[in-house]
Amino acid sequence: MIWKLPFNLKKTKKLTQAVKERPIPKHIAIIMDGNGRWAKARQLPRVAGHRQGVEVLRDIISICSELGVNHLSLFAFSTENWNRPDDEINALMSLMVEFLQKEIAELHEKGVKIWMLGDIKGLPEAAAREVENAKAVTRNNKGLQVNIAINYGSRTEIIRAVQNIARDVSIGKIAINDINEDCFSHYLYTNGIPDPDLLIRTSGEFRLSNFLLYQCAYTEFLFTEKQLLWPDFNKQKLLESIFEYQNRSRRFGGIIE
Ligand code: FPP
Repeated sequence: MIWKLPFNLKKTKKLTQAVKERPIPKHIAIIMDGNGRWAKARQLPRVAGHRQGVEVLRDIISICSELGVNHLSLFAFSTENWNRPDDEINALMSLMVEFLQKEIAELHEKGVKIWMLGDIKGLPEAAAREVENAKAVTRNNKGLQVNIAINYGSRTEIIRAVQNIARDVSIGKIAINDINEDCFSHYLYTNGIPDPDLLIRTSGEFRLSNFLLYQCAYTEFLFTEKQLLWPDFNKQKLLESIFEYQNRSRRFGGIIE
């Protein structure tokens, strides 16, 4: 997974220092995969994997905040995840509610802003209420923005954008010639959020699974090895991922002289 980690950077403290000396990705997106497999390997119910996943999340938010990352986008629940058993859906919603209830005060203190990507109206009432509260409490914060993608699907997001653009053209709010990349991006859930610089997916799955398809045109992807499941992710692994990103050559279709 990480190719260029020199031997002298194996220790977290040294690696933190090295990472801080190089440009920090402004926007990190994460697909937190492998919770179910983590639980299965321990003969635990799947929800135990999700619960441990939330524990990891707490640390990752804290480190991103400390490093000065501007945006952290987390794929928490996709539009396709409604196909999971009711028990697991309810457990995931409850975990999110519990996380927001428990953590909001501390996140607020750290200047973290909570934002949501996805159709909040489609969530169970308690979850929607908690989400709205977290957004309202942290609305004016200027630190790390945590974008929780919940009831989110990229294709739905794009189709919704097209529908809204068509509607605005039909009422004369915008002209067809106004439609360009900048205009289009305003109709996405990620309106105002820069594209991810780095996308991390744990557990050795090499796909995007309908996450930020439009926004990831020039994102650097980092797919971890199969053995690294989200509940085992940690500060060292995040730093290694950022270090790997810092050693990539981003050309955005151009060339480096
Ligand atoms: C993928 O693992 C993970 C998910 C579908 C859910 C991730 C959600 C959380 C960690 C909780 C989110 C909460 C907050 C507060 C944002 P999987 O279950 O598909 O794992 P598997 O592939 O091993 O079965």
